[in-house]
Amino acid sequence: CRCLTSSLQQSTFLSVATVQFSFTAFTLNEYVFMVQARGIQIRENVKNIGVQVLEQVVRGAYSNNGTDYPYDFNMSESDAPPTTYLPEGFTYLPSQVCPEKLPSMKGRLEVNMSEVSLEEVERSLLEEEPSMASGGYWRPKDCLPRWKVAILVPFRNRHEHLPILLRHLVPVLQKQRLQFAFYVIEQMGTEPFNRAMLFNVGFKEAMKDLNWDCLVFHDVDHLMENDRNYYGCTDMPRHFAVKLDKYSYMLPYNEFFGGVSGLTVKQFKKINGFPNAFWGWGGEDDDLWNRVQFASYTVSRPHGDQGRYMSIQHHHRGEVQFLGRYSLLRHSKERQKLDGLNNLNYSPLVSRRPLYTNITVSLSRKLAPIADY
Ligand SMILES: *[C@@H]1O[C@H](CO)[C@@H](O)[C@H](O)[C@H]1NC(C)=O
Ligand SMILES: *[C@@H]1O[C@H](CO)[C@@H](O)[C@H](O)[C@H]1NC(C)=O
Ligand SMILES: *[C@@H]1O[C@H](CO)[C@@H](O)[C@H](O)[C@H]1NC(C)=O
Ligand SMILES: *[C@@H]1O[C@H](CO)[C@@H](O)[C@H](O)[C@H]1NC(C)=O
Repeated sequence: CRCLTSSLQQSTFLSVATVQFSFTAFTLNEYVFMVQARGIQIRENVKNIGVQVLEQVVRGAYSNNGTDYPYDFNMSESDAPPTTYLPEGFTYLPSQVCPEKLPSMKGRLEVNMSEVSLEEVERSLLEEEPSMASGGYWRPKDCLPRWKVAILVPFRNRHEHLPILLRHLVPVLQKQRLQFAFYVIEQMGTEPFNRAMLFNVGFKEAMKDLNWDCLVFHDVDHLMENDRNYYGCTDMPRHFAVKLDKYSYMLPYNEFFGGVSGLTVKQFKKINGFPNAFWGWGGEDDDLWNRVQFASYTVSRPHGDQGRYMSIQHHHRGEVQFLGRYSLLRHSKERQKLDGLNNLNYSPLVSRRPLYTNITVSLSRKLAPIADY
């Protein structure tokens, strides 16, 4: 995202932040971060967002047991209202395509962020679903999966987060009756973290396993709060992580495309994948947004509160932010054809674990050469 780490850019934000502070002190930092995330462009919207924050804070003060979802500021695109879910006891046939709105998808999910060992998660998930195969591969038996989804997770130095994500997400995907496997793409070496290039590598490696038709690009620290946030693809690129706790459950800016997003293989190829040129965190998701627009797609988002996520607390541990992102973003269009799936070289180390395929790769700038633009 466009997030800045420096102090507040504009003192006008302070008055809004203070309102938030007086109600829920612990979210001040998150809110400030959210405000910063909007960067310069927030100035145009500051009035608008201020009103929304106030409304959320006031409503939040009246309803804080967290079991309901009173906030919807109509910031997600105007999806059709949620249609009804199939009734309990509804039966479907092995010869039919799995329904998209299953009775098992109940909505709000408990999120357990306690640390747990990978071995423990492997053991308990396999015990529940012995039909899971190596690499976290699973497919439903009682209907034909609507989507074959490769879940790609870029990774470095977050070993305690991965089991938390897997424990949370695997049962949800099974309830959603998707065919899926997990690919964890770990960056070795000392170059800054390149989330986008890891996704490109993960895509190419995953396609060697199976003819996946849907790709979910998933940060390891994002835990969905609602199992009706269906991880199948749509006819438009999808942004799943719309409302993050760290941004006070508001979309930080309309073009925000970070956290968890999904594209069909066809869409991903058409936009030439992610850019490879973003070294360090920040900006690559905005570039993906631009690529999607230049390909004449629009982004779809889950309705209302289905797009809520909690994030596991962490600091960008030793990871530098990418300060060159703003100048690169100005040339998104020119770079799209030159930098992405088509200029990518790498030599991965691939191994299978029970719940994911481990793709370890060392990245450097010369692996994605690009002429000047
Ligand atoms: C708290 O949750 C319960 C359901 O668990 C609900 O009936 C009640 O209205 C909620 N209270 C508030 C203040 O939202
Ligand atoms: C949400 O926004 C759309 C488009 O701006 C508008 O047509 C619609 O009435 C809004 N819905 C609500 C509930 O405010
Ligand atoms: C959360 O996970 C921990 C560690 O596995 C476990 O001990 C605890 O019972 C879990 N909590 C809930 C509410 O399931
Ligand atoms: C992936 O494999 C490499 C060695 O091949 C190992 O060092 C690394 O810890 C593994 N990463 C994960 C997330 O399993």
